[in-house]
Amino acid sequence: MTMLERGVSGGRLKVWDPWVRLTHWAIVLLLPFSWWTAETSRFDLHFLSGYAILSLVLFRIAWGIVGSDTARFARFLKGPVAAMRHLAHLRRREAPVDIGHNAAGGWMVLLLLGLLLVQAIAGLFSDDLIFTRGPLARRVDEAWSSLATSVHLRVFWVIVACAVLHILAVVAYRVLLGRNLVRPMVTGVLQAPGLDRAPPPRMGSPLLALVLLAGASTFSWWISTLAPLSAF
Ligand code: HEM
Repeated sequence: MTMLERGVSGGRLKVWDPWVRLTHWAIVLLLPFSWWTAETSRFDLHFLSGYAILSLVLFRIAWGIVGSDTARFARFLKGPVAAMRHLAHLRRREAPVDIGHNAAGGWMVLLLLGLLLVQAIAGLFSDDLIFTRGPLARRVDEAWSSLATSVHLRVFWVIVACAVLHILAVVAYRVLLGRNLVRPMVTGVLQAPGLDRAPPPRMGSPLLALVLLAGASTFSWWISTLAPLSAF
């Protein structure tokens, strides 16, 4: 095993495992795809995209409990004081290099994952009262299904607003601190001086990741079998 594979090489440190990166970039692709398939009434694809997002978010939540160090909520969720202090450092252009999410970004991660989960669950209960209804829409009364539909239509735009804020934060890091956060999210490797002295984060077991991903996908598939794709 090379130094890099173990996590350390000069000023380089492996910070993001492939599972976090896969989940992230798959969601980045699936979000606009879900919007486009809904806008163009390709609901068979919209449902598939929704089940994929549900599986990825459920997997990411589980991975946030038992996965790699940098993926764990307990590691990156800090109190509001730490988050504010980080933002103040950022304003003064002196934020320390973070191995994983910073104290402010961690809350945005939780918010985005939470909103995506709400959006996917609301979709399961949604009903357009014409051709298309989620697999669980008929399992609740009409008032709940109508509430879920309105949540599903509105929360999407809240996700877009948060995603824009999230991207602006990434751009701010680049402009204010000259730090590229995107490259580590693509390659998994963070480069910065002095990182060779930092203890490498422990990466989670690939077997466990595969089991969790399979479990989350099976759960989403099972939900999809609870009702026909659309009922007339
Ligand atoms: C092209 C657009 C995007 C870019 C360049 C981007 C970039 C990044 C980067 C660099 C990080 C790591 C931040 C850090 O170092 O702490 C990150 C994390 C994250 N991003 Fe994005 N992002 C994009 C779009 C999105 C969208 C659309 C969503 C969801 C709606 C999203 C959700 C997340 C989440 C949940 C994380 C945490 C990853 C994890 O811990 O699993 N991102 N993103």
